[in-house]
Amino acid sequence: MKSTAALTLASVPGLPLLGALPDLQKNPLRVMERATLDYAPAVRLPLPIVDSLVVSDPALVEHILVTNSRNYVKQTRGYDMLRKVLGNGLVTSEGEFWKRQRRIAQPAFHRERLVAFGETMTRAATDMVDGWKPGVPFDAAEAFMQVTLRLVGETLLSSDVTSEASAVGRAITVALEHLIHRTLHPFGAPEWVPTPRNLGFRRALRTLDDVVHGLIAERRKGGGPQGDLLAMLMEATDPETGEGMSDAQLRDEVMTIFLAGHETTANALAWTVMLLGRAPEVERQVLAELDAVLQGRTPTMGDVPKLPFLGMVLKESMRLYPPVWSLARRVVEREVVQGVTFEKGSLVFLCTFALHRHPGVWRDPEAFDPSRWAPGAPPPPKGAYLPFSTGQRKCIGDTFATVEATLILATLLSRVHLELVPGQTFEPEPVITLRPKGGVHVVATPR
Ligand code: HEM
Repeated sequence: MKSTAALTLASVPGLPLLGALPDLQKNPLRVMERATLDYAPAVRLPLPIVDSLVVSDPALVEHILVTNSRNYVKQTRGYDMLRKVLGNGLVTSEGEFWKRQRRIAQPAFHRERLVAFGETMTRAATDMVDGWKPGVPFDAAEAFMQVTLRLVGETLLSSDVTSEASAVGRAITVALEHLIHRTLHPFGAPEWVPTPRNLGFRRALRTLDDVVHGLIAERRKGGGPQGDLLAMLMEATDPETGEGMSDAQLRDEVMTIFLAGHETTANALAWTVMLLGRAPEVERQVLAELDAVLQGRTPTMGDVPKLPFLGMVLKESMRLYPPVWSLARRVVEREVVQGVTFEKGSLVFLCTFALHRHPGVWRDPEAFDPSRWAPGAPPPPKGAYLPFSTGQRKCIGDTFATVEATLILATLLSRVHLELVPGQTFEPEPVITLRPKGGVHVVATPR
């Protein structure tokens, strides 16, 4: 509900000049959670130069992302950093240009097209499990990065990137760590200074560019597959000029799909394996469902809706560990909503990690409890659960990711038991996406 009466907002504690920046640099999740625990609809986040708010009221979140989303744009430092890698692709572009690109890409994600991907997904998952040596510990988070990268390549771009998977994986890690570091350290050495960090970033970007440009050049030679996302992007022409997309624009879109399309799903899988490893009773229920539905065969796309409990587990895992842990927007025009003043030019943080653990919304918020998603259970209020965001900038790959994660989990859990290597701690590391710091080390034993 809109109101014009302004509230005086509480503020996150901070130092005189730097405000909460040092705390954010140390532990952004803690700062955001503390702001949410205030139970206010929004809290001021004192930052140098820019006025910022952390919004925790689901109704306000809904207002920002859906009802008046035109007033909240992606012109923020975080997105500017992302643009260094993704350029002007689907995640980072805005306005009419974004709308046109989204319209072009959308058919590649239609349900009918996804059906064709099911077999590819289970094949990749089966190959992954076949590569695990019984009793030998390995990092499941790393394995999931590789399998999801392979899948985004095979399904949407019809390209085999398995030989480059480790180099791409390393380059992405370096790039993302650099971006979050630059976002949180605005007063660090400029990018042109040849510090080891800056040089590492440049090298990583070159690696990623080489792979993506190679892929586009290969396709430009002609005779490539029809109907995949890359073909759709390459065939699209500007309605006014009749021109196709430039290689530079294609590069940005492909890089975006590469990054947005694998890192997120891989993290969701890693967190799910970690959570299941610590909740044997939930794992037992997952296995009972899998055994009843699959009876020993490899899962198919048709099985996905028959595995509702696994779906609940995935939802709950993305509640506790949303792979995209925070969204930010800049206010275009001043407005007062529910008594909260959004000043023109200020920054708004919507921290999904904190929203998903808001004690005012969730019963026993820290508990891993898939039953809260059971059919008939009351759904959370709008704006309270946003693993894929909401509104017109909602994730284009939400169904793709859900199907992919379900098929990968179903394939692997029905074939092996994964046991967590003892003595690990599982700390979330917010590097653009929310990674399990140090990985999720497991031992596989055949079931
Ligand atoms: C569990 C997996 C995933 C999660 C949690 C996730 C989450 C998100 C979120 C929160 C956004 C909004 C970002 C923003 O506002 O800046 C987003 C956007 C996007 N995601 Fe995903 N995503 C996942 C998987 C995927 C996959 C598999 C693809 C593609 C294959 C994909 C492609 C995109 C694209 C292109 C956008 C930008 C959409 C637009 O603004 O038009 N994502 N995703």
